[in-house]
Amino acid sequence: MKLWEGRFTEPSAKNADDFNQSLSFDYKLYWHDILASIAHVKMLGETQIIPKEEAETIGDNLVNILADIEKGKLTIEGAEDIHTFVENELVKRIGVKGKKMHTARSRNDQVATDLRLYTKDSIVNVSNHIKNLITTLLDIANNNVQYIMPGYTHMRKAQPVSVAQYINAYSEMFLRDLERFTDCYKRTDVMPLGSCALAGTDFPIDRRMTASLLSFSEISQNSIDAVSDRDFVAEYIFCCSTLMAHLSRFCEDLIIYSTDEFGFIEISDAYSTGSSIMPQKKNPDIPELIRGKTGRVYGDLTAILTVIKGIPTSYNKDLQEDKGALFDAEDTVLACLSIFTDLLKNISFDTRKMRFAAGGGFTTATDIADYLVQKGMAFRDAHAVTGQIVRYCIENNKTLDKLDLFVYQNFSSLFDEEILQRVKVGKSVEARKVIGGSARSAVRENIRSITRRLNRMFKE
Ligand code: ARG
Repeated sequence: MKLWEGRFTEPSAKNADDFNQSLSFDYKLYWHDILASIAHVKMLGETQIIPKEEAETIGDNLVNILADIEKGKLTIEGAEDIHTFVENELVKRIGVKGKKMHTARSRNDQVATDLRLYTKDSIVNVSNHIKNLITTLLDIANNNVQYIMPGYTHMRKAQPVSVAQYINAYSEMFLRDLERFTDCYKRTDVMPLGSCALAGTDFPIDRRMTASLLSFSEISQNSIDAVSDRDFVAEYIFCCSTLMAHLSRFCEDLIIYSTDEFGFIEISDAYSTGSSIMPQKKNPDIPELIRGKTGRVYGDLTAILTVIKGIPTSYNKDLQEDKGALFDAEDTVLACLSIFTDLLKNISFDTRKMRFAAGGGFTTATDIADYLVQKGMAFRDAHAVTGQIVRYCIENNKTLDKLDLFVYQNFSSLFDEEILQRVKVGKSVEARKVIGGSARSAVRENIRSITRRLNRMFKE
C-alpha cells in the first residue's frame, strides 16, 4: 500500500512506480529507519500524543520486525521505500494501531534522520578501518627507521630519506583523513526529526527526548533547512575522496617501486595477479584497481554536489539520489581500505636496492651547498659551485662520494676533509635532525607523534 493514495482517483502507472521507488537501494537504511521509529513512538507515548500502551505495542513490534529482517525471516520488498515497507509491515502485524506511528512526522524528516544515523555509523566504521591502516604503517615504519631510500621530487632522485620517514608521510595523510571524518561527524550529529514535511509540527513533541534516545548531540534549529540539508553527505563523500586520493598516490608508488626497473618492494603473490597470455607476468592489479576506483568516488562527489545545487528550498525528490552516491562511496572506501591494509602487511622491501639507488643521482649535492654556506659562502653562490661539481662528475663519470679532496678544493678553497664525510648518503640522512626530518631521531619522534595523535583521536 502507498502512503499517499487518498487524493488520487486513478492508480499510478507501473513504470511510474518503478521509477519513483527507492526500496531497491534504501533498504540499506532499514536498521536506522526502525531505530528512529522506535525512538519516535517512545517519545509519542511519553508525551501522550498517542496512548502509551499503543506506543509500547508499536515499539515491541518494530523490535520484532528488525529481528525478523536480521534473521532473514522477513524480506524487504514490495514497497515504494524503506519507510513505507516498515509501516506496511507494522500495520500487517498490529492493524490500525500501527498507522499511528507516523503521527507528527513526515518521510522528509524521517529520511534525513535515517541518513544521518547511517552516516554517523559509517564514519565510525571507516575511521576504524583507517586506524588499522595507520597501525599497520606504524609497524612498517618502526621496522625500517635505519634503512635509506632515494626521496624523489618530479619523479627524479632528490635527496636520500629514511624508509620509515617515507612511510610516515602516508600516516600523516591518513591522520588528516581521520580528522576530516571526525569533523564531518560533528555536523552530521544533528537530528532533523520533528521538522516534519518542512514547517515543523503542531503536536507537542519532545525533540530533545527523541534526540537523546537516538544519541544525537544536537537538534536542527530550522525545519525548512533541516529536511533538505544534505551538506553532510557531500562532506562525507569529500572525506572519502581525499582518503582515496591518498590511497591512490600510495598505490601509484607501490606500482612504480615494484617494477623490475626499481625493484624496491615486492608485493606478495597472494596480493598479485598474472597474465592470461604472458606466463612470466606478476601484475599489481589491486593497487591499480584502488587507483581506478578513486575516480569512481570522485564521481560520487560530483553526483551529490550536482544533485544539491539546483533544488529549490526545502525537500525535493531529487534528494532521493543522495543515497546512491553515499552508499557507493562508502562501499568503495571500505573495500579499498581493507584490501590495501592486507596488501601492505604482505609487502617486503629490498633495502639493499633502495640503499644503492639512494647513492646514485648526486642525491647529496644539497649537502655540499649547505656545507659551503656553513663555511661562509652565500647560498646562491654555493648552489652554483655545487652545480659545477655535479657537472664535473657527469662529464668524468664520477660520484660525489668518490671525488678526491683536491678536486673539491679546485672548486672552492673552503672545502676541507669534512666534505668527504658530508657527501655520504648515511651522513646526509642523519644530518637532517630538524623536526620532521630524515635523521633517525627525528623519524622516531615522528612515529611517536603519529601514535600519540592516533590514540588521542580514539579516546575522544
Ligand atoms: N524515498 C524518499 C527519499 O529518499 C523518501 C522521502 C520521500 N518524501 C516525499 N515527500 N516523497 O528522499
